[in-house]
Amino acid sequence: MIGCGYLGAVHAAAMASLGHNVVGVDKDPVKVDRLAGGEAPFFEPGLEELLERGAVSGSLEFTTDLGRVAGAKIHFVCVGTPQAASGLGADLAALDGAVDSLIPFLSPGNVVVGKSTAPVGTARRLAGALPAGVALVWNPEFLREGSAVADTLRPDRIVYGVADSGEPRGAAELDSVYGSILEAGVPRLAMSYESAELVKTAANSYLAVRVSFINAVSDLADASGADVLDVAAALRLDPRIGSRFLNPGLGFGGGCLPKDLRALAARADELEAPLTADLLRVADCVNEARIGRVAALAAAGLGGSLDGRRVALLGLAFKPLSDDVRNSPAVRLAAALAGAGARVVATDPVAVGAARPGLEFAVGVREAVAGAELLVLATEWPQYRELDPAEVAGWTAARVIVDARCVLDRAVWAAAGWTVLAPGRPSPDPRRLS
Ligand code: UGA
Repeated sequence: MIGCGYLGAVHAAAMASLGHNVVGVDKDPVKVDRLAGGEAPFFEPGLEELLERGAVSGSLEFTTDLGRVAGAKIHFVCVGTPQAASGLGADLAALDGAVDSLIPFLSPGNVVVGKSTAPVGTARRLAGALPAGVALVWNPEFLREGSAVADTLRPDRIVYGVADSGEPRGAAELDSVYGSILEAGVPRLAMSYESAELVKTAANSYLAVRVSFINAVSDLADASGADVLDVAAALRLDPRIGSRFLNPGLGFGGGCLPKDLRALAARADELEAPLTADLLRVADCVNEARIGRVAALAAAGLGGSLDGRRVALLGLAFKPLSDDVRNSPAVRLAAALAGAGARVVATDPVAVGAARPGLEFAVGVREAVAGAELLVLATEWPQYRELDPAEVAGWTAARVIVDARCVLDRAVWAAAGWTVLAPGRPSPDPRRLS
């Protein structure tokens, strides 16, 4: 496993749990030490158990020494492909570097498996650089943070991108790695490199567009007096639309959706598909605008200005069950509120260490809301959704909460004396906001 970030660490542990002997290689000695000690470098339910099991059985090893991959038959490449510092495209330096440095250790019959998310066209280029007799299979990953272990061991589908001439080389070897998963009936689709690459970026971009679509409907609801949650509830019952990824609010973030949407837009431009690029870019703009929309709601909740006001922000992670704050809408909202002059005191069950200038941290909700004039629910952790509004009212003089994720039961909160403001939902009587 080359690269032991989110994808590589989980994949390494999961493959070891299937009975394979796995060597995970990463350049970061601190990460390697933690993984080798059975400790997950990030919050991911179920991962530490697998790491410990692998360490005890001896089937899972982590190292900074790339030479340890010599003799391995299958080489998974799991390095990051972040957004480039300049422009919207993906930065492929780590991916190119990983494949280059792997080449001296490859022998005929070996299979290189690309799991990193890469722009369409990358796999064919990389396959051309491999030594004769070494096959490349492009095998995108669809794991979600927070359920990464289950997603890896029980995926919805397995996709193989293979060289399109003759026998799909490498597929049989990879089948033997995924043996028990395939035996459980998980569909396995073989296709060209280009199709496999596009499956991954199209999947993430579709999810992003879908979230932006419901947020665009949320803006229409605000403008017309409709309630976006009523609209979404009815949309979900249409089986052609389906129920998932229609939660409106603060928009999408994290290490994947934003960068993959942008990378696909950039690639669409390169491939001279300007309408595709426009569609994706507009979804990105709709998402970016969520922060300002919710910040305006917060200002409204304080009578028009955030300047000098104390705001408690519940949640910093980009989504619940994660400590990831990459591109987190909650963190970006905190920055917007602070930029408008608010004193923001934030809390999160696991992402509290995420230092950001101008942000104070509190260890729990009670500490965060003490002295606050306004509350903002920014990440819908179950423990925040289940807060007892009467109890919270005992911890703070604030009586307005901005429900940026549209998850609170407004009637229950209203009964305890709260005004709940949520994007896309009709405002309660404005006189109560003064
Ligand atoms: C995403 C994809 O869902 C995975 O399938 C993919 O494998 C992964 O990226 C990746 O490329 O590695 P993840 O980044 O863990 O997974 O997060 P999601 O669960 O997709 O959520 C993304 C963001 O969308 C979060 O900020 C979430 O709060 C937001 N979201 C999601 C909404 O605002 N509304 C929704 O209805 C759903």
